[in-house]
Amino acid sequence: MFELAIYLESKRQIVNRYLETCLSGAALPGRLMEAMAYSLMAGGKRLRPILCLAGAEAVGGTAEEALPAAGALEMIHTYSLIHDDLPAMDNDDLRRGKPTCHIAFDEATAILAGDALLTMAFEILSTGNRTHADTLETWLTVVDRIARAAGGRGMVEGQMRDIAAENAELSLDDLARLHALKTGALIQASVCSGALLGGGSTEQIENLEAYARNIGFAFQVKDDVLNVEGDPALLGKNVGTDELRHKSTFPSIMGLEKSKSFAKELIEAAIAALDQFGHRADPLRAIANYIIERKR
Ligand code: IPE
Ligand code: IPE
Ligand code: MG
Ligand code: MG
Repeated sequence: MFELAIYLESKRQIVNRYLETCLSGAALPGRLMEAMAYSLMAGGKRLRPILCLAGAEAVGGTAEEALPAAGALEMIHTYSLIHDDLPAMDNDDLRRGKPTCHIAFDEATAILAGDALLTMAFEILSTGNRTHADTLETWLTVVDRIARAAGGRGMVEGQMRDIAAENAELSLDDLARLHALKTGALIQASVCSGALLGGGSTEQIENLEAYARNIGFAFQVKDDVLNVEGDPALLGKNVGTDELRHKSTFPSIMGLEKSKSFAKELIEAAIAALDQFGHRADPLRAIANYIIERKR
């Protein structure tokens, strides 16, 4: 029997150790480093790096091969959260159960800590694999993939649309597109970069793209649901903020119950995309279910 809790915990430890090593190896000035470490090591779920490692394992590779990509993905994700919480954006004061970076430090430091994490991610992507000369071309593909997912054709554009959507009424299609950019792109890049580094075939990668597209979408729908009915003590962030800011969300457009059943359908489709994978994809299957069952 596959035990997801044990799997997640062991992968979290691997990712956390790797991130600690990256931070301590960077030898950056005191306050900047403090702010970066404050947010990076604040206890996130590590979903993206774990998906990356699980993606590598699903195609028969090892988690170790994908570790620099996993670390980079978590740095990019954490930077996006630090900036997302800024007064100019969502103006949130609670993240990962702690005061947000700009509250614990100050706005300028939070902006710079985010910038430095984003940049460090690409440093790791370009140096973390030096011992694997035979896979350099794959690494270049992965860098390209992650850059596209994180930047102006991915997450950043999603954030732009999210801000523009405040006080506006979006159609379901527009909201789906927004979610695909804001959250989906990086989640998809996480699974697929792991699978690329694990040596996945074109067909395997295609199936994993479909899996990741569906879980990425479901993840953001669930995030919207948790913003309505989640417990801030468990979530580690405030709830009710979407409504407060007049955001278009799945619950606001289709209602809470339909949003939940929609997320469930997406997860079923994600798991169906793994049909041709054997037991090696058990972690990905379990993570898919976890995405809609999670309380944080
Ligand atoms: C929160 O992401 C922001 C969204 C993209 C919805 P997570 O829910 O993965 O946050 P952490 O990393 O566990 O803090
Ligand atoms: C954060 O999205 C997503 C990114 C930073 C890309 P939200 O603003 O919807 O998520 P939370 O609720 O602050 O985590
Ligand atoms: Mg936001
Ligand atoms: Mg936010």
